Amino acid sequence: TIADLKGLKQGRLRLAVITTAKYFVPRLLGPFCKRYPGIDVSLQVTNHEHILNRLNENLDDLYVMSQLPDSIEVTYKRILDNPLVVLAPANHPLAQEKNIPIERIAAEPFIMREPGSGTRKAVQSLFDEHKLSLKVQLDLGSNEAIKQAIAGGLGISILSLHTIALEGPISQLAVLDAQHFPIERYWYAIYPNGKQLSIVARTFLDYLLTEGKQVAEQTSGRKVSQSGFSGQEQ
Ligand code: PGA
Repeated sequence: TIADLKGLKQGRLRLAVITTAKYFVPRLLGPFCKRYPGIDVSLQVTNHEHILNRLNENLDDLYVMSQLPDSIEVTYKRILDNPLVVLAPANHPLAQEKNIPIERIAAEPFIMREPGSGTRKAVQSLFDEHKLSLKVQLDLGSNEAIKQAIAGGLGISILSLHTIALEGPISQLAVLDAQHFPIERYWYAIYPNGKQLSIVARTFLDYLLTEGKQVAEQTSGRKVSQSGFSGQEQ
């Protein structure tokens, strides 16, 4: 019976997700845990490099990251898009401009994520491609701290659009309309190839790819389309 099946869904779900996924995974856990009260969850939120370490040590059931590992073969499913955008204080002169050349972005004081961050890698490779170097004013190990530093006038930065999903209509931050942006990225749910997923992990993965995806699209997708970056939403 269904009750028996539900009874089977007991145990611990171990998740490890990159920092930007904290803007949607915890939200999805609410309805999931209500439906399966026998499941308890441990959620690690950390940067790309630490996720890779955890993956190599096989510490978790499932991972959410936006750049696939090359050290290990994984099974992956695309969840949602995770565009990286240029953020500036709302009152910054560039906030009024359109189609800002990437050289102008490189000329601004810049706040960078810490080494080991996937965001940092993506930013670095875009500017390397254009043979530009950034004027890095400050390294900060947290998206939230970077948002505060931008609002405080320390510089501009490039972060996932999802980091501003909960900002109200009078946000102190503006998304700049810059050439070569947004940097297109996606979140993937990942596990090592050949790993036998527990019933609990399989249940969560199915949930993530169906209803979870819808919830995430509703909460963050709205903001994504408001800013005119909805084209890649799948
Ligand atoms: P990060 O991960 O927290 O390591 O920057 C985000 C990403 O890779 O998109």
